[in-house]
Amino acid sequence: MDLSRREALKLAAWGAAGAVLGLRSAVFGQAAGTAGEKTEKMESNEAKIKGEVAMSEYVLPPLPYSADALEPVIDAQTVGLHHDKHHAAYVKNANAALDQLAAARKAGDFKAVKALSLALAFNASGAVLHDLYWQSMDPKSPREPKGKFAKQIDADFGSLEALKAQFAAAAKDVEGSGWATLAWEPSIEKLVVLQIEKHQNLTVWGATPLVVCDVWEHAYYLNYQNRRPDYVDAWMGIIDWASAGHRFEHAVEAPAAHRH
Ligand SMILES: [Fe+2]
Repeated sequence: MDLSRREALKLAAWGAAGAVLGLRSAVFGQAAGTAGEKTEKMESNEAKIKGEVAMSEYVLPPLPYSADALEPVIDAQTVGLHHDKHHAAYVKNANAALDQLAAARKAGDFKAVKALSLALAFNASGAVLHDLYWQSMDPKSPREPKGKFAKQIDADFGSLEALKAQFAAAAKDVEGSGWATLAWEPSIEKLVVLQIEKHQNLTVWGATPLVVCDVWEHAYYLNYQNRRPDYVDAWMGIIDWASAGHRFEHAVEAPAAHRH
């Protein structure tokens, strides 16, 4: 696998969908283009989404169907605004956060790191989840699960009807803004239904953690008491980068779960 393909897969697995040029062409190219007219930038964006060229930032993928295709379930105006304004804003702001973090690294100035990390998690999660949302619907021929997927659903939920009942209940019961999702939990090899509230708190959906540091007080209080920075500084010196590298190799080979 060449580097650009690996990079594309890594970022696809991470939930990214394209490059900064792609973002700008997606957001502004769509606004500028008329129906049926493909600009050079839009084609370049599509190549990035397909993983044909390296991607390094988020893009706004085009809707996989026309805005009115989901009527009467969801009206065209709602879909248009949702995709072109809301989803686009998540993409734009996720990339802005990446740009600002790059500037902070360059300057060695991390005083805004908390706000920027939150902005990245909030907006990147929004970008990834909206991408998956559009792909989760099929206006013309909603298909039933088949084969291995159908068997897994039966094994984990008892039946498709039981899964649907749990999913609908979870979606209805989300407190405030949020999402319901059917997810693959690889550590127990089961499908699970989850509620996603405050999606920024759950960082970037689709991301595969490679290194993790526990900063709950139970992880350091006996030795460091309230001095978490000392614990973190010390902890940075004991990271097993070799094992992280193995996990990275594995993760970049795995295609993003929501792309097929
Ligand atoms: Fe949304």
